[in-house]
Amino acid sequence: MADVIKIFDTTLRDGEQAPGYSMNIDEKVRMARQLELLGVDVIEAGFAAASPGDFTSVEAVAREITDTSVCSLSRALESDIDASAQALKPAVHPRIHTFIATSDIHMQYKLKMDPDTVLDQAVRMVRYARNFCPVVEFSAEDASRTRPEFLYRILEQVIDAGARCVNIPDTVGYSTPDEFYRLVSDIRGNVPNIDKAVVSVHCHNDLGLAVANTLAAIRAGAGQVECTVNGIGERAGNAAVEELVMVLRTRKDVYGKETNINTREIHRSSRLLSHVTGVQVQPNKAIVGANAFAHEAGIHQHGVMSHASTYEIMTPESIGLQESRMVLGKHSGKHAFTQRMESLGYSVDRQTINEVFEQFKRLADKKKVVEDKDLEALMESRAALVPETFTLDRFVINSGNTISATASLRVDREDEHFEDVATGDGPVDAAFMAIERIVGESFELEEYVIHAVTGGKDAQGEVSVKIEKDGKIYKGRGVSTDVVEASILAYLSAVNRYFYEERNV
Ligand code: KIV
Ligand code: ZN
Repeated sequence: MADVIKIFDTTLRDGEQAPGYSMNIDEKVRMARQLELLGVDVIEAGFAAASPGDFTSVEAVAREITDTSVCSLSRALESDIDASAQALKPAVHPRIHTFIATSDIHMQYKLKMDPDTVLDQAVRMVRYARNFCPVVEFSAEDASRTRPEFLYRILEQVIDAGARCVNIPDTVGYSTPDEFYRLVSDIRGNVPNIDKAVVSVHCHNDLGLAVANTLAAIRAGAGQVECTVNGIGERAGNAAVEELVMVLRTRKDVYGKETNINTREIHRSSRLLSHVTGVQVQPNKAIVGANAFAHEAGIHQHGVMSHASTYEIMTPESIGLQESRMVLGKHSGKHAFTQRMESLGYSVDRQTINEVFEQFKRLADKKKVVEDKDLEALMESRAALVPETFTLDRFVINSGNTISATASLRVDREDEHFEDVATGDGPVDAAFMAIERIVGESFELEEYVIHAVTGGKDAQGEVSVKIEKDGKIYKGRGVSTDVVEASILAYLSAVNRYFYEERNV
């Protein structure tokens, strides 16, 4: 049994066939270059006979890729094989892949051919393809639902006809790992010339078992596996290359196999595919999902920071990521928070950390993810702090396009509550009027600037105001996910600065 499992990548053929994943020629060539960097052994570049665009893509990839084998799919028809042979002419290491369905259900209802005719056609077409290409792969479509005796017969004869690789597809993703293990073992035990060909498998993911079935086949002696980046492919997709490769690497103790994949290119390959197709992978996708190396829970963050292997069975670097992502959110603990503050360049004492951590927790309750810019905004608003003579307790705003805005505010000064209501030209103006009534001073608003600290609907708004009294300017800043609250906080901080500088309170 081979110690190195060959990776046959069909992202550009089976993957591209799936709805929403079509790629133009340039995109396919870009992706093929990346697959070569990833280190796959075979790139199935397309189905040359399917369309003029497919033909040109196969040809373009064949011209571009020099180290990796380039393959084109063909039905077991002379015209398809001619198209593949023609498109593969520039390839340094060409492979023609020809297939015909072998299950009763496909032969009867789709091909409308009897088994002997199917067998004869498969053998003739493998022989025909060999005229153009030294490496011919044969696939028995729907092999997992094919009568085993017929499968053994057809595989034996196509190998005699010159197939160097025989592929066993679980075309409809129907098999289970135990069953698929037995199928591959039985093929190896019942096809007399099987040693003259590489046994390959091609598993679809209709029941979510594509990777498990492929791994079972590896244990049963398969030497090549067919897979796609991000697991894309017909219907529920194919076995995901990144999952297979990382299982083999992480659990070498179980499988004892290697691949030629440079795992550090995995992340880049996944991202490029998402970029060219516009289809993002789900966040919890194994290996390449955004959360695959992200930790938010405080206990997990603490564990990973103390010793990564507490919660990580692979390093992020092994798939080409820089580092694990510590997501700061409401589940995060002080360890991760403190470390992020330090990495942002803040060296703060324990008391400040405790205070900012409290502010952070309040913010995290409102906002799903607290970003670095949010933390910087929190720290900047602290830097500008003067004693808080007046603090906001609560506010209610009533506003609309057919009424005057009304603001009702309650502000604390030491242990006393002060409450007032005012109307104004809009909610912010009304709130500022209410503050002036409460503090018993009036100011000119010189400047009011608002901007979003981060992106998204739950972004924090940052408001800066400058208010003027007796020729002097007092600045204030406020940050909140609610822009009216940010405005009130900014106005109050400017008022507090006035009281601090002019009234010494
Ligand atoms: O799923 C399948 O059977 C295929 C073959 C053409 C290999 O994609
Ligand atoms: Zn397929």
